[in-house]
Amino acid sequence: MSELNKIALKIVSPGKGILAADESTGTMTKRLESVNVKSNEENRLEFRSALFSSKSMSNCIGGVILYDETIKQNYNEKSIPELISETGAVPGIKVDTGAKKLARSNDEKITEGLDGLRERLKNYYDLGARFTKWRAVYLISEKYPSKLAINVNAHALARYASLVQEAGMVPIVEPEVLMDGNHSVQDCFNKTSEVIKKCFDELIFQKVDLKSILLKPNMILPGSKSNQKITSEEIAELTIKCLINSVPGEVPGITFLSGGQSELEATKNLNTINKHNKSKFVMTYSYGRALQQSALKHWSKDIKDIEGTQKIFDHRANMCSLASMGKWVEEVDKD
Ligand code: G3H
Repeated sequence: MSELNKIALKIVSPGKGILAADESTGTMTKRLESVNVKSNEENRLEFRSALFSSKSMSNCIGGVILYDETIKQNYNEKSIPELISETGAVPGIKVDTGAKKLARSNDEKITEGLDGLRERLKNYYDLGARFTKWRAVYLISEKYPSKLAINVNAHALARYASLVQEAGMVPIVEPEVLMDGNHSVQDCFNKTSEVIKKCFDELIFQKVDLKSILLKPNMILPGSKSNQKITSEEIAELTIKCLINSVPGEVPGITFLSGGQSELEATKNLNTINKHNKSKFVMTYSYGRALQQSALKHWSKDIKDIEGTQKIFDHRANMCSLASMGKWVEEVDKD
């Protein structure tokens, strides 16, 4: 077993998933302002370090994805990667520089960040990162995602993954087919399958070691503006079918994004997936909003109430952990 494969397996060990705390400063500012908290460096650190020092870190969180600002910060005289490592979780870092307008397309995007990546990776490794994330985004409509967007994003994801393995870290490959739009669940299934297959064609072509990556896909869902009613069972069935058909068996773990689902939806769907998952793929969470939303809401009311904030985060993390093993029991929606 290679060192990188061991890191990947450690991140997705039973009952564990990933805390995605890698919102860029722009995105984090939107999140904080939506709950009327000023977005400054100090507040961003305060909220994030509350999560990183919570009890559930040691039994529910196998890895934390950080943003450039956070990986360089200290809290109580410890560097953030140190604080995370002490809980047993692996520190990770988002290394793309965002999705930008794709030339020759009106609405589609290409994720950038390859220039100077080798040097940045070395720096992140020295700061303690042992895995990384790169997110490509795809729209669904009649003509999207276009072959152009599918091909260029797959190429960039594979170039990124190859450089990350060279630097001694595990790349998370994240092709996110967005929930936005009024498409059907079948469209999501077809387009997501096409996107993931192309990613693996490129990863294989560029000699990426598939045993040492993690895939971070979307679940198969109807568009957020479609009126299609679908059960969690159907979501699970289509999601598992899509992944079994498109992901090579060597990949050690699949870590879903929450992508705009509520905390409860993301937990319930993950649980149903794991109840039905007969494949050998580990299927767990790499959630941002679905792990942080309630904790952030609580914290925003009194930013000194770290204990209360941690309690709420711990509950969410424990629910996701149970769902990653198919052992979650229905919660009451308090919203
Ligand atoms: O790239 C996306 C994030 O890492 C996951 O965020 O769970 O809020 O979609 P989300």
